[in-house]
Amino acid sequence: MDIILLGPPGAGKGTQAKRLVATRGMVQLSTGDMLRGAIKAGTPVGMQAKEVMARGELVSDAIVSALIGEHLDEANGGAIFDGYPRTRHQAEALEMLLADRSRELSHVIELVVDEDALVERICGRFTCAKCGELYHDVSKRPEKDGVCDVCGSTEFKRRPDDNEETVRKRMEEYRAKTAPILPFYEEQGLVRKVDGMGTVEAVAAEIDALLDA
Ligand code: AP5
Ligand code: ZN
Repeated sequence: MDIILLGPPGAGKGTQAKRLVATRGMVQLSTGDMLRGAIKAGTPVGMQAKEVMARGELVSDAIVSALIGEHLDEANGGAIFDGYPRTRHQAEALEMLLADRSRELSHVIELVVDEDALVERICGRFTCAKCGELYHDVSKRPEKDGVCDVCGSTEFKRRPDDNEETVRKRMEEYRAKTAPILPFYEEQGLVRKVDGMGTVEAVAAEIDALLDA
C-alpha cells in the first residue's frame, strides 16, 4: 500500500509517518529528511538545497523527484510519501515512478489543520540528535528533562527553518503550490480528509480507520 500524507508545515505528517512505520512496517519517504541528509553530507544536492530551504521556498522538482526515484525501491512493502509531492509537476512524476513499478497510490490523506496553531507547533519543535525522536516545548517534553525517552541521549536539535518568518513563507508555498494538487487526486477519488487538530493519538486513530476500511 502506497500512501501520501499531505498537509501544511507542522500538520503532523512526520509524526504520523513515523507511527505508521512502527505499527505497519511501512517505509517513510520524506523529501525534507532526504534533503537535510544531503545538506549534512555536503553533497551537490545539499549545497543547492541549503539556501532555498532556509528561505522556506521549494527545492526544484527535478531534485526531489530524483531523490524519490532513488529511494522508492526501498519501500516495496508500502511507502508513506511525507512532504512529496508538493507541486503538480511532482505529482505527475510520482505517477510515472509508480507506474514503472506497477504500483499505485491507495490513499492521499489530507491533514486538515488551523494554520495559526501550526506556527506554535513548529516553533516549539525539537528532535533527539541521536535517534530523531520528535518533541515539543509544550505538548511533548521528554519525561526526564534533557534526556531522550527513546535512546537516553542528552543532545537535541532544532531545524534552522523553524522560525516564525520562514514558517509563514513555507505556508505560503503550501497554499500557492501544494494545495492546488488536491483536485488532481480528488478526481481519482483518492483523497481522505483527516482532522489534524486532534491529539496525536486521535489523528492516528482516524488514519488507521481509513487504511483498514
Ligand atoms: P519538510 O521537512 O517536508 O517540512 P514541512 O512540510 O514544512 O513539514 P514539517 O516537517 O515542518 O511538519 P510535519 O507536518 O512533518 O509535522 P511534524 O510531525 O514534525 O520540508 C522542509 C523544506 O524542504 C521545505 O520547506 C522545502 O524547502 C524542502 N522540501 C521538502 N520536500 C520538498 C518537495 N517535495 N519539493 C520541494 N521542496 C521540498 O509535527 C510538528 C510539531 O508538532 C512536532 O513538534 C510534533 O511533536 C507536534 N505535533 C504533531 N502532531 C501533533 C498533534 N496532533 N497535536 C499536537 N502536537 C503535534
Ligand atoms: Zn533519542
